[in-house]
Amino acid sequence: MNRGRPARSRPTLILYQSERAYGAPVGGRVLDCRAMATVVRAASGRDDYDACVRLQRDVWGLSDLEITSAIQLVATVHAGGLLLVAESAGTVVGFCYAFAALRGGEAHLHSDMLAVHPAARGLGVGLRLKWAQREEALRRGLRLVTWTFDPTRAGNARLNLHHLGATSREFLPDFYGTTSSALHHGLATDRLFVRWELDSPRVARRAAGEPGATPDFDALPAINDATWRGGVPATSPPRLELDAPELLLEIPGDWDAVVRADAGLAREWQDAVRRAFEALFARGYAALGFVSTGGERPRCGYLLSLRAR
Ligand SMILES: CC(C)(COP(=O)(O)OP(=O)(O)OC[C@H]1O[C@@H](n2cnc3c(N)ncnc32)[C@H](O)[C@@H]1OP(=O)(O)O)[C@@H](O)C(=O)NCCC(=O)NCCS
Repeated sequence: MNRGRPARSRPTLILYQSERAYGAPVGGRVLDCRAMATVVRAASGRDDYDACVRLQRDVWGLSDLEITSAIQLVATVHAGGLLLVAESAGTVVGFCYAFAALRGGEAHLHSDMLAVHPAARGLGVGLRLKWAQREEALRRGLRLVTWTFDPTRAGNARLNLHHLGATSREFLPDFYGTTSSALHHGLATDRLFVRWELDSPRVARRAAGEPGATPDFDALPAINDATWRGGVPATSPPRLELDAPELLLEIPGDWDAVVRADAGLAREWQDAVRRAFEALFARGYAALGFVSTGGERPRCGYLLSLRAR
């Protein structure tokens, strides 16, 4: 897809603009402009850094001790990191932050946070921030961006694997320990570690607008079965012995609804997802896609594959 990006202008790094409508309070103001330009650009100046601190509070509800401070952002960006902000009518509505990383001996960016204010979600801002991050990383001669995400969050999985073409072969159990984030619900912070191979054919195809594959959900051998219990899905124990070249690991479409309904059920999901990823990654599978169905009760899950794609 050509995301309507204008010719890149340096050094201001105005990478993408779009005409979008917002109609909800952002940072204490009401943005109701019908045709508002969203600009993605490099953060510059203390106001931008402070806006990213405020967004961390708005998006994750983190305690001050667990927020990445403005001065830490300034220092790590100066040392080779990248902080991009999305701005609408003078207000920062999203940001994407990566610091310089050397894990495995290869210079790359580790993308620690991607956040869009709830009032500006579902408008393509998150994706534009990530594609801008890729462009800038490539311009710097880097070929890899890594990050982690919560494997039980279907929206994030779809964004990362299906839209961006990132892949995962590594599971990090309870990565952060218990945090103050409202999004983490006091549960174990299991994470998938993803690699975004910026110039791989898979990612280049996505960048050019070619959508990820959408295999038939029901045709894939299922690692687990989801059944509805009290209005939310429950999972069977995972079948860890399956060995077909492609397998499906189902997760709930709405993780927050599961946690709200039954914390015990949420832990059962976490346990099944953790056991499945750990066993299958150990046997050479990789998470290469995310499959969703439509319908009244949409279902979704990870495509785990023995094939490199
Ligand atoms: C994740 C996040 C940055 C997405 O921002 P966004 O601007 O709404 O994303 P976009 O409009 O570009 O949507 C792209 C895809 O993101 C996915 N997505 C991710 N999180 C989602 C959410 N909470 N709700 C809906 N879709 C979400 C969707 O699948 C969407 O693709 P689709 O339209 O084909 O379904 C935003 O929801 C957010 O700030 N979430 C909380 C913080 C977080 O989880 N950050 C880590 C991201 S890995």
